[in-house]
Amino acid sequence: MTRKPLLVLTMVFLFVFSLQVACFAESPANLPHIKILATGGTIAGSGATSSTTIGYTAAVAPVDALISNVPELKKVANVSGEQISQIASENMTNEVWLKLAKRVNQLLAQNDVDGIVITHGTDTLEETAYFLNLVVKSEKPVVLVGSMRPPTAMSADGMLNLYRATILAGSKDAIGKGVMVMLNDTIHSGRDVTKTITDRVDTFKAPEIGPLGFFTGDKPVFYRAALRKHTTATEFDVMSLSDLPRVDIVYHYANNTGTAIEAIAQAGAKGIVHAGTGNGSIGKAEYPAVEAAQKQDIVIVRSARVGNGIVARNGEANDDKYNFVAGDNLNPQKARILLMLALTKTADPKLIQEMFWKY
Ligand code: DGL
Repeated sequence: MTRKPLLVLTMVFLFVFSLQVACFAESPANLPHIKILATGGTIAGSGATSSTTIGYTAAVAPVDALISNVPELKKVANVSGEQISQIASENMTNEVWLKLAKRVNQLLAQNDVDGIVITHGTDTLEETAYFLNLVVKSEKPVVLVGSMRPPTAMSADGMLNLYRATILAGSKDAIGKGVMVMLNDTIHSGRDVTKTITDRVDTFKAPEIGPLGFFTGDKPVFYRAALRKHTTATEFDVMSLSDLPRVDIVYHYANNTGTAIEAIAQAGAKGIVHAGTGNGSIGKAEYPAVEAAQKQDIVIVRSARVGNGIVARNGEANDDKYNFVAGDNLNPQKARILLMLALTKTADPKLIQEMFWKY
C-alpha cells in the first residue's frame, strides 16, 4: 500500500480513537454522583441591580435553579438536588441542623452517592460546618459552599464556588478530610474556618491555622489535613435526636455585671459559653451570676471574644475551683456547637473538657 492512504487511514483511526476517549472520560457513567442539598443564603439570592451586593434578598432561588444556572456541573458530576430549607442563614435553627445531618447520613450510606455539597448562607455557615464535622458518620466528602454576592450581581462568585465545590465533593483526595468549606478557591476545615469580613468574597479564613488547600484552576490541591477528630471518629450521634440542649453565649466587656448570665440561666440553658476578654477572662462582677448558674448545674465554657489563640486551662480563671471548661482555640460560636453536642453525652465538666481537647 502507498504511504498516502496509510497516512489517511492512521489519521482517521486516531481521530475516532480520540473521540472515544473524550466520550469515555465525560460519560455520566464515570462521573461521581453528587447530591446538592440547598438551605438558602446569598448563593440563592437576588438583588435589584447588577451591582447590588448588599441589601439584596437571600434564599430565593430553588436548588434546581442553582443547578441549571451552572450547566458545567454536568461535565464534572452526576448531580441532583434537594431543598432542605430556604432561609437566610442568620435564621438557622436546630431543627434545620438535625434535618440536614440526618439527610446527609442517610444519603452517604447509599452506594449511589459519592459526596454531598450543601449550599448555605455565609453568616452561620461555619457553625453548620462544625456541627456536621462532628455528627456526619461517613468518610465521603461533604462540602459546604456559599457566596458573598447574589447570582444577579456582576462577578457573582456563587456559580464558580458551586462548580468547584462539586468537583471537590467528587474528588478522591477529599475523602476522609472531614466536613469542608469551599469558597473563593480555598478549601477549609469545618472546624477551623470562620467568617472574618462582613462583605467581601475573601471573608472565610482559618486564622493562625490556615486552609486545608486551594483550587488551582479546576483542580483541588491539599497541603494539610485536620488533626482533631471528626465525622466517623467522634462519639456524637444525632440520628435519634429531636432537639439539642440549649447553650447560649455571653459577651464580656468593661463594666459587665453578669446580667446576661442571669437571664440565660433563667431561660433554662444547660450550658453557657463565655466570650471573655483577653485569654478568656471573667470579670469579678460576673461571679455572683456565674456561681448561681453553676448551682443550676449549668456548664460554663471559657472562650474568648478576641477570636484567635488558645484559652488555657487555669490561666485567667481558676477552672479547677469553678469547674469551668477551657475552650481551647474554638471561637465562641464554635465552642457553643461542641458544648451542645457534649451535653447530649454528659454534664460532667471534666469529661466535657476532654472533648474540647479532642475535637
Ligand atoms: N443573610 C446572609 C446569610 O444568608 C447573607 C450572607 C450570605 O449568604 O452570603 O447568611
